[in-house]
Amino acid sequence: MIVLKPQPGPQEQFLATPADLAIYGGAAGGGKTYGLLLSAVRYKNVRGYGCTIFRKNYNQIFSEGGLWDESDKMYRFIRGAMPRVSRGRWVFCDRYGYPVSKISFAHIDSDDDLPSWQGSQLCGLCFDELTHFSEKQFFYMLSRNRSSCGVAPFVRATCNPDADSWVAKFIEWWIDQDTGYPIPERSGKLRWFVRRSNLLGRYQRRTLGKVQSQHPRGERRTQIGYFYHVVGQGQSGPS
Ligand SMILES: Nc1ncnc2c1ncn2[C@@H]1O[C@H](COP(=O)(O)OP(=O)(O)O)[C@@H](O)[C@H]1O
Ligand SMILES: [Mg+2]
Repeated sequence: MIVLKPQPGPQEQFLATPADLAIYGGAAGGGKTYGLLLSAVRYKNVRGYGCTIFRKNYNQIFSEGGLWDESDKMYRFIRGAMPRVSRGRWVFCDRYGYPVSKISFAHIDSDDDLPSWQGSQLCGLCFDELTHFSEKQFFYMLSRNRSSCGVAPFVRATCNPDADSWVAKFIEWWIDQDTGYPIPERSGKLRWFVRRSNLLGRYQRRTLGKVQSQHPRGERRTQIGYFYHVVGQGQSGPS
């Protein structure tokens, strides 16, 4: 019997956070992908729950040792878990064998793929290696983050942001702008972001750093957190 559980520290905090959007950063081997796969499976017993985990390309999911294999090492131990590899999906069944929930894997090669997601509802929206996706892809998919199963929609992502990436800019409050290293005391601290509803490119960070109690109608508030190992414990520095 294998027990799936988070490591103490940022991985555990990443799993426990109530943030709408949580990003797990750090160098390779820090447990980011494992944490992401754990966060996806958390609501497997909720009927109608679904989570989609994105990687940039198909091979990163389905090649030997890729994301699918990683998920297999974990999910195969879950009672009722049925791999549907041809559909890139795990189905979680109840004790009578009826499907309850699912976790799907998908890739976004280019912006041309985005319209095919129009109309979809993704309750759990996960990105492994967020820096591999464009800002446009990320925010487009955020507009698909909806739920009708009772679980509040959530977004989880991993990254190892280099300074030039849009992700580094997005999470700049957590990064020391002089050194490029993350600020240890800010790991896991939550902040609010506001964006105009569904208008791509109108994402506003004007409330970054303080909770906004009043906001104009039509704006959606997103609570976000960035989690990372402090320097010296596996966190990568500037690149
Ligand atoms: N909570 C955990 N329990 C057991 N193994 C873990 C856990 N977190 C990470 N690992 C293992 O540690 C290794 C590195 O984790 P991984 O998620 O691939 O790191 P990263 O994505 O940051 O490079 C993997 O072999 C993974 O299975
Ligand atoms: Mg990884």
